[in-house]
Formats: sequence, C-alpha cells, structure tokens
Amino acid sequence: MMMYAPVVLAAGKGTRMRSTLPKVLHPLAGLPLLAHVLNALDGIPHTADFAPLLATLASAKPLAVVGYGASEVERVFGERCFYALQEPQLGTGHALMAARHALDTLEPQPEIVLVCYGDTPLISSEVLARLIVEHVERGATLTFLTAITGQPSDFGRVVRDADGQAREIVEMKRATGEQKLIKEVNSGVYCFERAWLWSALETLPENPAGEYYLTDLARSASEQGQTVATVSGTMSETVGINDRVQLAEAEQVMRRRVLERLMYAGVTIIDPATTYIDAHVEIGPDSVILPGTMITGKTRIGSFCRIGPGSTIDNSVLGDGCVVRNSALEEAILEEGVRMGPFSHCRPGAHLARNVRMGNFGEVKNSYVGPETDMHHFSYLGDATVGEHVNIGAGTITVNYDGVRKNRTTIGDEASIGSDTMLVAPVIVGEHATTGAGAVVTRDVPPWSIVAGVPARILRMKEPPHVSQGEDEKKE
Ligand code: UD1
Ligand code: CA
Repeated sequence: MMMYAPVVLAAGKGTRMRSTLPKVLHPLAGLPLLAHVLNALDGIPHTADFAPLLATLASAKPLAVVGYGASEVERVFGERCFYALQEPQLGTGHALMAARHALDTLEPQPEIVLVCYGDTPLISSEVLARLIVEHVERGATLTFLTAITGQPSDFGRVVRDADGQAREIVEMKRATGEQKLIKEVNSGVYCFERAWLWSALETLPENPAGEYYLTDLARSASEQGQTVATVSGTMSETVGINDRVQLAEAEQVMRRRVLERLMYAGVTIIDPATTYIDAHVEIGPDSVILPGTMITGKTRIGSFCRIGPGSTIDNSVLGDGCVVRNSALEEAILEEGVRMGPFSHCRPGAHLARNVRMGNFGEVKNSYVGPETDMHHFSYLGDATVGEHVNIGAGTITVNYDGVRKNRTTIGDEASIGSDTMLVAPVIVGEHATTGAGAVVTRDVPPWSIVAGVPARILRMKEPPHVSQGEDEKKE
C-alpha cells in the first residue's frame, strides 16, 4: 500500500495581517485558519467510488511546520497533528526542509509528500484528492494546484512553455512585466515524490532576501526533465489569506458554504445575506433561521426551532421546538419547547428545562429553571435553582450578590413569586409558597405559606389539596 504524508506549512508570522496572533490562528467562521486546512486533509475520501486509486492509499497524521507562535499553535491543535519547528522562518522552501527529519522517522516511509499552506482555509478535500490521483496516475515528480484569476495580485505566476507544460512558478516580486499578466496562479498545494524532494531541497537557491521559495522546485524539476503535472481548481477554493481584506473575502465564501450545507440538510434560512453561522454549528431539519441572526461556536440546535429575527447564540445547546426571538444566549442550555424573547438574555450556565417560557427583558445566569416554569417579564435569576410549574412575576429579582460573594436562591415546585419580589440570597422559597407583590424575602419561606411585606413575613398557610383514600382507590 502506498502512503502519503500531509504537511501543512504554518510557521509564518503573517506580517500583512498586522496582528500579534499567528496568522494560522485567525478565525474564519469560528475556526482557526489552520483547522480548516486540517479538516480538508481529514476529509480526503479514501473510497473507490471517488477514485479507485484512493482506496489503495494510506495517510499519515498531518505534520504541521510551526515557528512564529509555535507554542500557541501547538496548544490549540494538540494531538491533532505532529509538529516540526522552523526557526527562523526563511520561506516556504526552508519550512519544508524543517519537516524532513520528522517525515524521515515515519514508519512505513511515505512515497508521497502532500504539502499545503496553513493560510488556505477554503481548500476542499475533493480538490486535494484530485491532486493526489493526478500525481500518482501521471507518475509525476511534482504536481501542484493552480487557479485562473482575473486578479492574480501577489500570487506566484505559473509559467508554461509552448506545449503548455508547466515550467516554473515565478513569484510576483521577481516576475517580469509580461509574467505579471499571467492569469494562472499557484495555489500553494503540492504533491512531491519524496525520494526526489529532499535532494532537490538541498540545491534550492537562496533568493536575494535570504529566503528559500518552495515554488522554485517547479523549475528544478522541469530542468531535470522530471514530470511536472498540474491540477486546476477554482480561485474560491484555493485563495490564500495574507491580510484582513482577504480574510473577510474568505469569510463570505465560507459563510455561504456553511449556510448551503444547512439549507441542503433541511434548515430554512430566510435571508442568507444577514445570517452568520459558524462552521461547526449543527441545526436540525425544519428549523427556521430568521434574518439578523448570528449562531457561533459549538452551538447545537434541534429540529422545528424558530431562531431570530435578531438573535445571537453562542456555544449553546437547544432542544427541538425552541423559539428564540431577538434574544441572546451564551453557553446556555434550552431543553425542548422553550420560548424566549423578545429581548431576553441567557448568560453562561443558564439551563431552561422543557417548555419554560421566558418572555421579554429577562436575564438568567448560572441557574436551572425547571420544566413548564413561566417568567414572562423583566426578571433576573442569578445563581438560582427553580422548580417546575413556578410562576415568576414581573420584575422578580434574585439579589444574589452581597458585595462579597454570590449566594444561591432555591425556589420549590409550583411556587408563585409575586411581581417585584426581591429574593435576598441565600434564601429558599418552599414548594407551593406564594410571595406577595413587592415582597423583600430575607428569610426562608416555608412550603405552602404566603408571605408579604418588607421584610417578608408569613401571612398565613395554604391548605394543601386533600387526597382521600376513597379517591385513590377509584383511580386504580
Ligand atoms: C505563496 C507562494 C505563492 C502562492 C501563494 C498561494 C511561495 C514562495 N509562494 O505565497 O506562489 O501563489 O502562496 O497562497 O511559496 N510559511 C512558513 N515558513 C516560512 C514562510 C511561510 O511556514 O518561512 C507558511 C506560512 O505560515 C503560510 C504559508 O507558508 O501558511 C505561505 O506563506 P506566505 O508567506 O503566505 O506565502 P505567499 O506570499 O502567500
Ligand atoms: Ca499566503
């Protein structure tokens, strides 16, 4: 079985980003640039129905060449790749030299080295697969990906001879006036025959800036009469990110892809132009996303939900049939059938159980709210545990912070909290208890009691419904 070793060059600082963050860690649709490249590598189909040849190939774990911000990059990606350090960073050719030792220790030895750049997040698994297939079928020494564009800007130009054979890649800085007009550019994805690669890298010329360009290998190979093949992709798959303008352009392409994936999977998106959804968000079929909505992070949303207009949901989990109108959620859990908004806010640790109704101008933080509980207007629950079938009157507030520490509030099942109640934590309101409007509750409220006033005192006890023996027998 033949093997290929994927290598991702990710050591550059990304000077043109003008950022302290290493370029490959800049997020695109919520994932670092490098993660998109690794996803594309992972997704290369090893199935005979894509290409019989691919089924006979095995892949090694990707090797990331890191340098600028190496420890940060390694912290983010951990075990997902193994790493080689390029220090200092003297160009893409130099970066691949830094990968040699790590690749030579692989067992079994890969015949093919597949090189990608960490700043080309739009690359697809399919185009990578096509490149490998072409490389093997042609028996090439070097195969690289190209694209045609009306705006070749700072990409390397692909120079072909009269027969159409790719001869060399000329970097923009060194291109002649005529070469600058070439519309076919190098996308920065290459397959090399490993046996040839290392010796060729040893003879790679140093350019006047003291750098080694990987792209010069195209000329080395063609001068030696080796087979140089190319595969053409589309610009929208292959564009490299060098600055924040290109980052924004790539974001648009990626966003459209994410929205299309969801729409084909059964999600209605009323206005894709104003809907922003991160790459790894999951949404169930027959959910509807209304305009002006942003869904980010590792959010999972069930089926038959209605989200928006104007909602932001980050790193949250929503069950089936939830409605979130003009509201914001962060690290929250909504079980099935929860309705919230307009204009409410669930902060980290908010957990609303089945069929909770949280109306307008409410905030819940670090609290569990039990099933079927209603909290319709202007309330704040922080550090609270609320039972089921509770009614939280308008303007109820858990006074959870005493200036030193956060204290918990517990409200039992079927309790009824009157409008404008202040629950001065730590405090427990027993099940079936009622607080009067404007009560300031400073002490625990016994079950089945009615309290009112400032501070709240017991007015009387309620009569629990009496269940007689006879009735119980009738039910059986
Ligand atoms: C490179 C190509 C260019 C191609 C374009 C496609 C070269 C010389 N040029 O140009 O032909 O059209 O990509 O996007 O390869 N890197 C390192 N170590 C280094 C330098 C760079 O690991 O010393 C990494 C960077 O992190 C980056 C990638 O290599 O992910 C590409 O480097 P970059 O400087 O962006 O190359 P381009 O100028 O875009
Ligand atoms: Ca680049």
